[in-house]
Amino acid sequence: FSDFLTDTFHRQHDYLRISVTERCNLRCLYCMPEEGVPLSPSRELLTTPEIVMLSSLFVSQGVTKIRLTGGEPTVRRDIVPLMQQIGALRVHGLRELCLTTNGLSLHRKLEPMVEAGLTGVNLSLDTLDPWQFQLMTRRAGFSAVQKTINRIFELNRAGAGIKFKINCVVMRGLNDREILPFVELTRDKDVEVRFIEYMPFDGNKWNEGKMFSYQEMLDLIRTRYPDLRRVKGHKNDTSKTFEVPGFTGRLGFITSMTHNFCGTCNRLRITSDGNLKVCLFGNAEVSLRDIIRKVNNGEPIDESAFKTLEHAALARTENLPNPDSQPLVVPNSDELLNVIG
Ligand code: GTP
Ligand code: 5AD
Ligand code: SF4
Repeated sequence: FSDFLTDTFHRQHDYLRISVTERCNLRCLYCMPEEGVPLSPSRELLTTPEIVMLSSLFVSQGVTKIRLTGGEPTVRRDIVPLMQQIGALRVHGLRELCLTTNGLSLHRKLEPMVEAGLTGVNLSLDTLDPWQFQLMTRRAGFSAVQKTINRIFELNRAGAGIKFKINCVVMRGLNDREILPFVELTRDKDVEVRFIEYMPFDGNKWNEGKMFSYQEMLDLIRTRYPDLRRVKGHKNDTSKTFEVPGFTGRLGFITSMTHNFCGTCNRLRITSDGNLKVCLFGNAEVSLRDIIRKVNNGEPIDESAFKTLEHAALARTENLPNPDSQPLVVPNSDELLNVIG
């Protein structure tokens, strides 16, 4: 693999985000209305074998990092077995398997996930106050999130090496007074707290007045931490990284509203109904689901259909030296490769 997933802007697309569900167990004010989002009929959503097939295909084409998102990925019933199957792609070049989660129902699943190959958790958490949590997410559950956080630190103390970030969407008049406490959290905790500029959009019925800008956040933080300084982040970060000298953790800013970061974004996205999207802000989508289902007469590929297809594909492949060491056979991969290339 060299240039297969490199675009005309020389961005190497080796990072794939897969939404594994539209559902969520919270109702954050800036994201969903109280009644939730309209759900697609289940036959339109990717099945677990389909997600694994697509992951395998992208890894075979040079993707080294997969992030599972939602909705809330942990509400998918088979999230752990799904991660086990994706994690097995390590032998084919997958280096990072990450989760973006609200952490509400994660603490018990963390250990098997780490065993499956989980390397990073981005926790969406906008407040450190249980009442404010209930106000912003319209649900109870702060103590469950605390358990998750403690469990991550515990596992890391035992050597799990989970890269841990907290995503905090800042909304004026709601949680802007928590910016400084979140910074304080990084004094002795190994976590990167990333402040995200709130993005108003049609569905969330909030206005731009609620946006608290990157510059305002920096100014505020410098009143208490004048030494705050910019540090080099990773090549494809969409956030700007900072630290307070002497603090264990780091800070980041995702400036979705005031400075675009498209130049460093290398993310490919697959929606829960199987559409490939190259840009969060673009509308161009192509249905990978429809392509992979062609071999199954347009029907969803469940476990048993997958076994039959895999068996047939393997039988057609001659001289496999060791079937266990081959990339998973993906039915119709030529057509998919044309699309993703
Ligand atoms: P790492 O760089 O691997 O830590 O992850 P990330 O920052 O790409 O992912 P995360 O899920 O933590 O998203 C944080 C922010 O990235 C979001 O608030 C968005 O502003 C932005 N983002 C970029 N791509 C997407 C996307 O496809 N969906 C969503 N929900 N946010 C995205
Ligand atoms: N504005 C800013 N960030 C948002 N997120 C979801 N909706 C919005 C919005 N309207 C954040 C979540 C999560 C990340 C993936 O996206 O808090 O951490
Ligand atoms: Fe949206 Fe994430 Fe909040 Fe769920 S936890 S409502 S998906 S921002």
